[in-house]
Amino acid sequence: MDAVVLVGGFGTRLRPLTLTRPKQMLPVVDRPMIEHVVGRLGQQGVTRAVLSLGYRPDAFEAAYPQHRCAGVELFYAVEPEPLDTAGAIGFAARMADVKDTFIAVNGDVISDFPLADLLDAHREKGASATIALTPVDDPSRYGVVVCDPDGRVQAFVEKPPADEAPSRWINAGMYVLEPSVLDLMPESRPSSIERETFPSLVQKGLLYAVAQDGFWIDAGTPAAYLEVQLALAGGSHIHSTANIAPSARIANSVIMEHVTVAAGARIAESVLLPYSTVKANVEINRAIITPEHHITI
Ligand code: GDD
Ligand code: MG
Repeated sequence: MDAVVLVGGFGTRLRPLTLTRPKQMLPVVDRPMIEHVVGRLGQQGVTRAVLSLGYRPDAFEAAYPQHRCAGVELFYAVEPEPLDTAGAIGFAARMADVKDTFIAVNGDVISDFPLADLLDAHREKGASATIALTPVDDPSRYGVVVCDPDGRVQAFVEKPPADEAPSRWINAGMYVLEPSVLDLMPESRPSSIERETFPSLVQKGLLYAVAQDGFWIDAGTPAAYLEVQLALAGGSHIHSTANIAPSARIANSVIMEHVTVAAGARIAESVLLPYSTVKANVEINRAIITPEHHITI
């Protein structure tokens, strides 16, 4: 089975981390974000990941020159201009000649949702598209979904004002799509799956959803990029090449390659990216540190 993985956004909310590389090439604990996403797809039966590339595509091509990532074959689809989510999925699926039912995912979502649940519901309902839902406290940053008891989507509202969100169930950024949905994705202009394709499928009664309650994080903001790493590390993760002074104290943090932490420093609930340095006696709490930047959450 093919999966289109959207990795072409500018990663604006993660600047300055994303000024030099795309969001999905940022490290998450011990490997680039994309390897977590593609690896989980591969474990669930996806045999080819079609990367929908836009911003800095060469970062992916340089990292995976053999067109393999986490054991999965890669196909590179580089769009000529930013086509937004639907335009990008359509462009990539056509380039890769996708002909059967396929998966599409936001490349910044790390979750343990079983694809089998989505696929089973999709087939049982005869849906054109089936999306995974997850509950959140503040739905206004996401696509908000209302379903009938049968799982048919009655409304899809992208990023509504906080007091107007019709439910706390949001689009988790993981879809099963029929190839027929590609006909709703224009070839020559940007279009949004959230603002155009899904609302149009709702009108036709062909969009279904499956509620999930497992681990789920959209790592696209500094707070979430920190949170996903603390969750995956489950305690502290310290790379073997890190140089940590014996008197430094580290709690619930991720310390990556070639990091230096000097004597007496105290680090809690933070992520230190490769080659970053913490000086003696400095205290760091809930921050992302790079050689050039210090981002406090
Ligand atoms: N190729 C390509 N081209 N990819 C793009 C483009 C584009 O023009 N624009 C965005 N992307 C990619 C991003 O890199 C990301 O992996 C994915 O599409 C989603 O874009 P985000 O910018 O992360 O969207 P969001 O987090 O605000 O909202 C989306 O995700 C939420 C769940 O995490 C929406 O799908 C919401 O409905 C959803 O709730
Ligand atoms: Mg996102």
